[in-house]
Amino acid sequence: MVKQVVTTICFVLFHCIISYWAFMSSCSIHSSTKNSIPAIARYFGTKGRYEEVNSYLIDDILAINNSLVTLPSSTCSAIHLTAIIRHGTRFPTTKNILKMREFYNLVVRNATNNLNCLSEIKSQWEMWYKDEMDGRLVNKGREDHRHLAQRLIKWFPSLLTEDNLRQGRVQLITSSKHRCVNSTIAFREGLMTGLGIKEVELEPAVNDALMRYFDQCERFVKEVENNKSALEEVKRFNEGPEMKRVMEKMADRLGVPYTSITDDSVEAAFYLCAYEFTILKENSPWCQLFDEVDAQVMEYAGDLKQYWKRSYGHDINRKSSCILFHDLFHRLNQVVDKINSDGTVSEAVTVQVGHAETLIPLLTLLDLFKDDVPLRSTNFASQQNRIFRSGHIVPYAANLMAVLYKCPEGIRLGVRLNEKSLTLPGLTDPVPMYDDVKKHYRALLGGCDQETVCKMNY
Ligand SMILES: *[C@@H]1O[C@H](CO)[C@@H](O)[C@H](O)[C@H]1NC(C)=O
Ligand SMILES: *[C@@H]1O[C@H](CO)[C@@H](O)[C@H](O)[C@H]1NC(C)=O
Ligand SMILES: *[C@@H]1O[C@H](CO)[C@@H](O)[C@H](O)[C@H]1NC(C)=O
Ligand SMILES: *[C@@H]1O[C@H](CO)[C@@H](O)[C@H](O)[C@H]1NC(C)=O
Repeated sequence: MVKQVVTTICFVLFHCIISYWAFMSSCSIHSSTKNSIPAIARYFGTKGRYEEVNSYLIDDILAINNSLVTLPSSTCSAIHLTAIIRHGTRFPTTKNILKMREFYNLVVRNATNNLNCLSEIKSQWEMWYKDEMDGRLVNKGREDHRHLAQRLIKWFPSLLTEDNLRQGRVQLITSSKHRCVNSTIAFREGLMTGLGIKEVELEPAVNDALMRYFDQCERFVKEVENNKSALEEVKRFNEGPEMKRVMEKMADRLGVPYTSITDDSVEAAFYLCAYEFTILKENSPWCQLFDEVDAQVMEYAGDLKQYWKRSYGHDINRKSSCILFHDLFHRLNQVVDKINSDGTVSEAVTVQVGHAETLIPLLTLLDLFKDDVPLRSTNFASQQNRIFRSGHIVPYAANLMAVLYKCPEGIRLGVRLNEKSLTLPGLTDPVPMYDDVKKHYRALLGGCDQETVCKMNY
């Protein structure tokens, strides 16, 4: 009896040791498979999938979730929607493709460890990204916009109608970048599919002054975009202890000297995992080169960059969006004036397609996603629960929506980000009276003048 028990224990222990050994010598916890989600997918930041912020879409991409939205009372009706939308899933830029190729070559030529994921990369994975793919929209990106358009028809059935489309009460405005123009065209296809229309005259208007305002704000370009010291915190973090640890762990996993791995190499590896997933839906062997803590460090590095380059880090970042802010309120005012004067709406829906860089400064100008303590190179640990998370705010096809409602008591404004209601900071009502919103932002409405704000004082 005792002997039997001992034998069993030995047997079990033996198996545990064997499987532990197998686990340690393999970097693939799950083998790389189609249709499985990488464990680190929610840390992809601006390279993240829209489905990660609204996971019910994984089961049904055309579903809308009413419990995430606060509506005004049923006596109100929607009279206008402005949606500012980021382009859909895209290829990496040429600069990043170059980094990815270099890292791939390093793994193929220099990695000495005998891990499953490494042999999978060496024997099966091909470097298929080409320089000319340079940031173009991929098929998944077209789908992002087609599906979003179809969901918006469900959200706003009285605004996105065939009649409004045909009568010119729907406007499409886009940045000139091909990924945005093609996203806009895909959005239009989604509208037509959803409404069952074969053809319609609805040409997107290109407007970079609005959708790429950051290029045209001299002060922003000089003080931030072209100024290395404006991103000092990012540089410090990339040279700091957390990133160093990620680099060392990567070197250990590959079996290469620590000096072979830079912050660019780990960034390239992270991109490879992210792009293989968002473009091909694959949980690739690259993802196995990171554990969860590594991914959190990579996410923080990305968020720090957005914070200092586009958000609260420098005051000019948010102010560079004054022109888009005024464009929005000018349109809302016009709709309100018109409905108050003759009861009609001539502009039911305005869709504006741009970039993560278009949305972040505007959200910042509105005072959203502001942490009490700034994001810095030294506070990674205490910022674990920060609200400034670019993966939640601006994944591919991220969308900011402003909805005007006509109610018996007057006009109300609802705001949604990524199909979830948002209460504007300083206002308690999730669907406040439009006049209260204007009162709240009156300083910006009366100032925030693009020319003044962006001019350099020599
Ligand atoms: C809608 O969102 C709520 C709140 O996050 C969630 O609990 C619910 O599961 C979602 N509905 C569906 C159909 O997934
Ligand atoms: C845009 O889409 C069209 C067709 O849908 C395609 O021919 C073209 O190559 C696309 N352009 C880019 C830059 O992706
Ligand atoms: C660059 O950024 C630093 C830090 O924000 C700032 O002190 C400096 O004035 C900027 N340089 C220029 C040319 O604007
Ligand atoms: C990879 O190995 C080659 C020699 O086999 C060496 O010349 C090269 O410097 C190594 N690359 C890196 C990044 O360590």
